[in-house]
Amino acid sequence: MSGPEQARACGTMSGREQARAGGTMSGPERARGGGASGREPRAGGLLEARGLVKTFGRRPAVRDVSFEVGAGETLAIVGESGSGKSTTARMLVGLLRPDRGQVLLAGDDLARLRGRALRARRKDLQMVFQDPLGSLNPAMRVGASIAEPLLLHTGLDAAARRDRVAELLRQVGLRPEHADRLPRAFSGGQRQRIAIARAIACDPRVLICDEPVSALDVSTQAQILDLLAGLREATGFGCVFISHDLAVVRLVADRIGVMRGGELVELGPAEQIYTDPRHEYTRELVAAVPSLTARRGSHERA
Ligand SMILES: Nc1ncnc2c1ncn2[C@@H]1O[C@H](COP(=O)(O)OP(=O)(O)OP(=O)(O)O)[C@@H](O)[C@H]1O
Ligand SMILES: [Mg+2]
Repeated sequence: MSGPEQARACGTMSGREQARAGGTMSGPERARGGGASGREPRAGGLLEARGLVKTFGRRPAVRDVSFEVGAGETLAIVGESGSGKSTTARMLVGLLRPDRGQVLLAGDDLARLRGRALRARRKDLQMVFQDPLGSLNPAMRVGASIAEPLLLHTGLDAAARRDRVAELLRQVGLRPEHADRLPRAFSGGQRQRIAIARAIACDPRVLICDEPVSALDVSTQAQILDLLAGLREATGFGCVFISHDLAVVRLVADRIGVMRGGELVELGPAEQIYTDPRHEYTRELVAAVPSLTARRGSHERA
């Protein structure tokens, strides 16, 4: 799981209404500052990774990774295959226990929480995966899948859960009647919308997205990125957005962290990463995406 900036460029709909309507602004427009909510992203404070280390066997997968993510902010993590991005994500949401280091949410060390306090924190940290089928039970109607976290984390009764599911489906650009269908009745992009609806069902404070658009074609990628940007504006969640694709990340990131060999080799504002990369590996990554250098050129001429 985004720079909700205030310059209200167009329309009269609130951010939430826009997100409900499936979003009207393109990702790039949002990235430039056409935000609807008036919320400013805040660096730091909400989610903090402190010195995370994970070794599988004798191979270190993540070595001493630290960063912070603020409310309404999107931190993108990029890097080549095997650089430790997913391992980091899994430690952030508690799917994997770090060998060393801590994950703090609003200052609370998740490893120290128990019982109800832990459940409450888990609710605040949700994840979207590359393959939505992985997070959706193929035998369960999508309405029931989206309602599952509501059942676990809220006191809503069956009727209220149905209303919330209908609202969530609309919010991600689907229709309430889709609740009765099975995941296989949907396209890849629609399934990712369903997975996102499930992830945001309980209003998480942080959304961790691990390659959420990598399995989708380019135009569907843009729609899902747009949806995520709209939802972030509307609800103000902090977002960690993992991708191997710097061109994709450009559409959503406020800051970018670059991973290589389990280490965060560079971390900085998105614009600086593209226009003035400091680490040699980052320079190689940026140079390898011609569209980035072309855009940079036109930006400089403007
Ligand atoms: N459960 C596991 N058991 C053993 N090794 C693992 C496990 N999970 C990850 N690894 C190893 O840890 C390293 C980092 O893997 P990780 O999945 O975090 O990389 P990644 O950056 O997400 O790559 P990709 O872009 O391909 O998804 C790799 O060498 C991988 O083989
Ligand atoms: Mg991965």
